[in-house]
Amino acid sequence: MIGEPNWIVEGSFDRLLPQPATSSTGTVLSAQFSTSEILKGRASQTLSYANGLLGPTIRANTGQTVNVSLQNNLSEETNIHWHGLILPENMDGHPKDVASSGGTLQYALPIIQRAGTYWYHPHPHGLTAKQVFMGLAGMFIVNDEEEAALNLPGGEFEIPLIIQDKHFEGSNLDYSPTPDEIMSGYMGEQVTVNGMHAPYFNVATTWYRLRILNGSTARVYKLAITGGLQMHIIGSDGGLLRSPETVAEILLGPGERLDVLVDFSQVGVGKEVFLVSNSFSEFNVQGRQSFKLMKFKVDRAVSFGFTLPSVLSNISVIDHMHAVNTRTFDISAMAGGEGGHGGTMGRHSINGRTFEMDRVDETVAAGTTEIWEFDNMMGDEIHPMHIHGVQFQVIHRMGGRNKIIASEKGWKDTVLVMPGEKVKVIMTFPEYTGVFVFHCHNLEHEDDGMMLNYKIE
Ligand code: C2O
Ligand code: CU
Ligand code: CU
Repeated sequence: MIGEPNWIVEGSFDRLLPQPATSSTGTVLSAQFSTSEILKGRASQTLSYANGLLGPTIRANTGQTVNVSLQNNLSEETNIHWHGLILPENMDGHPKDVASSGGTLQYALPIIQRAGTYWYHPHPHGLTAKQVFMGLAGMFIVNDEEEAALNLPGGEFEIPLIIQDKHFEGSNLDYSPTPDEIMSGYMGEQVTVNGMHAPYFNVATTWYRLRILNGSTARVYKLAITGGLQMHIIGSDGGLLRSPETVAEILLGPGERLDVLVDFSQVGVGKEVFLVSNSFSEFNVQGRQSFKLMKFKVDRAVSFGFTLPSVLSNISVIDHMHAVNTRTFDISAMAGGEGGHGGTMGRHSINGRTFEMDRVDETVAAGTTEIWEFDNMMGDEIHPMHIHGVQFQVIHRMGGRNKIIASEKGWKDTVLVMPGEKVKVIMTFPEYTGVFVFHCHNLEHEDDGMMLNYKIE
């Protein structure tokens, strides 16, 4: 209800959606203090890689090496993690590999994986949530030949949508979670798309490709488009699905991406539809509300269409018979507390442990296949679990929703584990040896210590 904490405030949807600039190898990202008109008519202090909010969309092709230099113009340490990319240990943005204020870091990123919608953001332990919330994040799009052959909508018909909720005190962006807000995750009242509150975008009567990233620290969205438009999901975290999954609405947790085709020819010229988030849970504060995120105005007719392919890509299923190990991670309890939300205050943990920079918690063998199980059966919080350095397949969900959802039928690097659920994923570790992290992508939980190191050797 209006008046409840963190109740979303919709805007007027009369400012044009900004689109991040596109860049490629050779990019210099300078993490800096900046200003941006996130709210209409009000300038706010932000952090940015670009001068404003967020960072450029980096584009690369499979097989290429992408060079990026990071210049740290913040007053604290930072680094960049390339979320979803499979990289050598020293390029992955582990929290130990940071640049202090005034320092620089050079990244050389060999792109050895398939086309997909990846992203980048800071990963300095204890500061990740704040820096992402203040505006440090960007998309990293990889293209390859398999995808190019599909002739999917591109150019002006392909738009990146980075969704983040923001909390303000007056005109100032405010990141100051209380202990309770560290429990639930920090929730803002204004939802931004590409760094702007309540924008609109003009579309023609044809198909569009929306690459959607949930870059919020904690908010989950159940995305839908009004006017009865279907979302044809063609990809998720790790690229294209085998075939399109057509849905009316879909849950997207922090860190997850969706690659969606929408046919606006079903909406008349002059009509408007909205990207919305539907309520998804009575039991969770953030699940109770439905709200609008942005508006699409159909402003012109075009005569070309697009035929949705029935097969998108080749995905080989990892055979669970090949798994050499199964590890179970209890993500429902609080370390130093009584377990669950109801217990004594403690810290978010995995198997009762909180993050230690130099402690290796799990060791796996390069090139082998394992099943990891995230157990939130006894928990009452939402945990989007993310593993660095690998892409996995979701093979089982027990409890709660009790099924694998449409967007989980391809490669993933982040999976939503709702209260009461136990989710199993399978993966084959790459040949890159070294120490990587896995953690909850509710960034308040992560900064609170819900992250462990694992070593590939
Ligand atoms: Cu986007 Cu370690 O995460
Ligand atoms: Cu990551
Ligand atoms: Cu969590």
